[in-house]
Amino acid sequence: MSTDTGVTTSKSASSAAGERLLEVEHLTVKFPTADGLVNAVTDLSYGVARGQTLGIVGESGSGKSVSSMAVLGLHDPRRTRIEGSIRIDGQEVIGLSESRLRKIRGNSAAMIFQDALASLHPFYRVGKQLSEAYGAHHPKASARDGRRKAIEMLDLVGIPQPDRRVDDFPHQFSGGMRQRAMIAMGLINDPSLLIADEPTTALDVTVQAQILDLLGDLQREFDSAIIIITHDLGVIAEMADEVLVMYAGRAVEYGATRELLTHPEMPYTWGLLSSVPDVSADPDARLLPIPGNPPSLLDPPTGCSFHPRCVHVDKVPGDLCSTSTPELTPGGRGPGHLKRCHLADPDRIYATEVLPEIAPDLADGSATPAPSTATPSTTPPTTKEA
Ligand SMILES: Nc1ncnc2c1ncn2[C@@H]1O[C@H](COP(=O)(O)OP(=O)(O)OP(=O)(O)O)[C@@H](O)[C@H]1O
Ligand code: SF4
Ligand SMILES: [Mg+2]
Repeated sequence: MSTDTGVTTSKSASSAAGERLLEVEHLTVKFPTADGLVNAVTDLSYGVARGQTLGIVGESGSGKSVSSMAVLGLHDPRRTRIEGSIRIDGQEVIGLSESRLRKIRGNSAAMIFQDALASLHPFYRVGKQLSEAYGAHHPKASARDGRRKAIEMLDLVGIPQPDRRVDDFPHQFSGGMRQRAMIAMGLINDPSLLIADEPTTALDVTVQAQILDLLGDLQREFDSAIIIITHDLGVIAEMADEVLVMYAGRAVEYGATRELLTHPEMPYTWGLLSSVPDVSADPDARLLPIPGNPPSLLDPPTGCSFHPRCVHVDKVPGDLCSTSTPELTPGGRGPGHLKRCHLADPDRIYATEVLPEIAPDLADGSATPAPSTATPSTTPPTTKEA
């Protein structure tokens, strides 16, 4: 299945009919710092049902990791101000004690971290760290069971000679192997909610496809809910049932993957699509980086936080874009597709102005959509990432 912009989607639009394992409501995360208050996440709401995958996408610093870490209660409460509600399987996470959080972490919910080196303890052998993660939630398991499980998991994520490498220290692993070890750690207790923060960035195409397949297998086997954070819209198209686009700590567009990628309604999402290198097979298609840089979250812009970079401001009457923050509301395409933008007719602007620039063949209807690729794109939208 291919979107109007040539990004291939393997999943149909989510009905989101399943029970929501994770419910995030009005999440706000602020960090008091010497320079002032960092508004890392503002009024963020989303949910993920069992068996569903939510993709979170946005430029560097948009709050993807901070919001996800809040879900697992990973922020230091002394240095973080968190408001809102986060419920995993009905259990409120905000305000839970560290011991209760530890029970949730790894067991019902786990995170594969962006920085594998920082996440593995340098002084402990990889296998020991894996077997401890297993033992923490399987108190009856012996050391031998833990080691066996560690080897099984290393094998599962494609570490060669896992029975030997299980005794290596993290520094003896390559970057890609460390990332795979982190993935093994995340999967070892079959979590019902898995948050994968850029899980495949350091991996080559083949291994990336294997890891994404692995996540898909986990989901089918355990009916897990998965959040995949990525810069790669190809991964989103391949993996996600729903997409949440974040900008400057807020959700700016949210909807079923195919719907959102075929009819994006927010200029920031248009910018993300415009800067995907393989967005169209059309040789006339142009890569259009979003002008400017993401704003400082110490002092975010007034109104729509994207307004200093948005090329469509003049289509909105008066100074609304710079003075009034748009609500996240349904656009013209139904209640399941939310966008945060004052534009009155985004569909028309996308079809007549944006699409002709990034995929002229699709815009004039003279060509069929770009062919799909068997594996997701592995090239991050390098034109924009900080
Ligand atoms: N502990 C902290 N103290 C102060 N500011 C922080 C802290 N952690 C994160 N931030 C800030 O919060 C914002 C959101 O960061 P976050 O790590 O969520 O971005 P991201 O979307 O995951 O980006 P990337 O794609 O680079 O991983 C950034 O401006 C970051 O500098
Ligand atoms: S609200 Fe205004 S500045 Fe923000 S994305 Fe829409 S048109 Fe652009
Ligand atoms: Mg991050």
